[in-house]
Amino acid sequence: MPLTGRKTLTQYLIEERRRFPEASGDFNALILDVAMACKAIARAVAFGALGDVLGNHAAEAGGSVNVQGETQKKLDVLSNDYFLRITEWGGQLAGMASEEMDAPYQIPAAYPRGKYLLVFDPLDGSSNIDVNVSVGSIFSVLRAPVADGTEAGREVTEADFLQPGTQQVAAGYALYGPTTMLVISVGNGVSGFTLDPNLGEFFLTHPDLSVPADTQEFAINASNSRFWEAPVKRYVDECLAGKTGPRGKDFNMRWIASMVAEAHRILMRGGVFLYPRDTKDASKPGRLRLLYEANPIGFIMEQAGGRASTGRVPMLGVEPEGLHQRIGLVFGSKNEVERIERYHAEPVRKDQDNPLFHERSLFRV
Ligand code: AHG
Ligand code: MN
Ligand code: MN
Repeated sequence: MPLTGRKTLTQYLIEERRRFPEASGDFNALILDVAMACKAIARAVAFGALGDVLGNHAAEAGGSVNVQGETQKKLDVLSNDYFLRITEWGGQLAGMASEEMDAPYQIPAAYPRGKYLLVFDPLDGSSNIDVNVSVGSIFSVLRAPVADGTEAGREVTEADFLQPGTQQVAAGYALYGPTTMLVISVGNGVSGFTLDPNLGEFFLTHPDLSVPADTQEFAINASNSRFWEAPVKRYVDECLAGKTGPRGKDFNMRWIASMVAEAHRILMRGGVFLYPRDTKDASKPGRLRLLYEANPIGFIMEQAGGRASTGRVPMLGVEPEGLHQRIGLVFGSKNEVERIERYHAEPVRKDQDNPLFHERSLFRV
């Protein structure tokens, strides 16, 4: 290991591959291309206003809205393009799906089609771009279903992507924070890499990451509290009650509004994150998206010994129904996530379903 005495991402991937002598190298090539896309995004993020990458995307001067109905930022669109351009040519992918594209992306005819599907949120935490707070990218790798071998090379369909999270071959995220990091799992634990900006290379700095089973830190957008379901209200109220409440200990709270940054904090020191299903908008069962947010982060959490759940059932077992499906998401320290699942399974007590009769309601004065 020359240079820094640490393994590069390439070396790590090659050593992982030696466990599978029959592997073609396609998978490693794909992950290295994803890492390249993340490096390109990291540079764009780092230049900020100097790189003219802040603000909204100005399609026909009126801005642009993605399939979620969200205004696209310049960096959302740029990051999506980096992912597409840097990974489409290598022959490893059958197709892609992204938060920023309504329909699956077909590999252009000029390039060979491969056996994997790449699903991504090119820029997570977009609302933080313009205020210079950490953002990230999230990705998931699935196998492209090939019915009986005769369909190889065909166009991909939405149905190809609707695989439960347990089917992920790999998942990861990049965090564009004070340092740029890449955190991945190829199904054999979780490894964290730090970008050396001089060499433009990711080095393994955080091998075998694990999420502590217990925590005294939670993350939730409390402005939604009036829309929470009773089990979530109960959980948060008990945390807020602190030492003298039923939990018998004080809790701390964080909300960055970049899920990828919250996931990273939880991987580093434990914690629990909730963006639960709520009653805010009946058409949106949760805020975050199953295929490119909940499943990849869920995979990382579970591979690190944490847990990811809808609040009711394990996230990775959910059978997806749509490419852009939203879902309630709870993840982090195992014992806390299990507690939240227990609260959902227990019958709601009378004093929990009406905030007026709530013992320790969040905003009770
Ligand atoms: P995205 O920028 O990809 O749309 O995702 C933002 C997500 C997630 O990162 C974050 O936890 C959440 O939205 C923040 O939601 P609120 O604005 O409700 O806090
Ligand atoms: Mn996101
Ligand atoms: Mn996004």
